[in-house]
Amino acid sequence: MTHAGETSKRVESCAQCAARNPTEVTRRSFLGTLLGICSSSLGAVMGVSMFRYILYPVYAKGSDKQWSHIGDVSEFAGNKGPVSKTVTFSVLDGWREVVSTQSVYVNRAADGQLQVLSAICPHMGCSVGWQAGQGRFVCPCHGGQFAPDGRHISGPPPRGLDILPTQVKDGKLQVQFEYFRSNVPKQETLS
Ligand code: FES
Repeated sequence: MTHAGETSKRVESCAQCAARNPTEVTRRSFLGTLLGICSSSLGAVMGVSMFRYILYPVYAKGSDKQWSHIGDVSEFAGNKGPVSKTVTFSVLDGWREVVSTQSVYVNRAADGQLQVLSAICPHMGCSVGWQAGQGRFVCPCHGGQFAPDGRHISGPPPRGLDILPTQVKDGKLQVQFEYFRSNVPKQETLS
């Protein structure tokens, strides 16, 4: 008997077997369908997780507005001039979250409200220092000078010191530290 003959006989006997036992075939096709559904679901879940991981720096940046504690409001009640403080916050560097610290100055604006100024010079990013004797902020790099409320007085900086968003919660002063574009006349937040 030839090889082809044997194969057709086996196919025939299998067809006969299916005809004899339809329950067996139904069970097999059900398991096959179930396996297919499980594989597709697993693939979809993994795909979504991977997609979220790749896009994490994009959507996390947009929702990453955090408030950093500066001190009790009562602490600044008798301020005679700007007070230097350090704020701690975390920033997203690609997929890593990096804890960073920056200097700020707490001061009273002309209307008596507390304001928080970034100590980063808006010219080229050096740190400005409060000079109590001169009653102004002075930048050590190119001599930029600013009034106690941050207004630009003289030197190359194209604008005043950047004012940061603040809030008072349960008697505590909080700030949202942000970075701004250097050397442009208007305050532009860097995303
Ligand atoms: S960096 Fe401050 S004046 Fe240039």
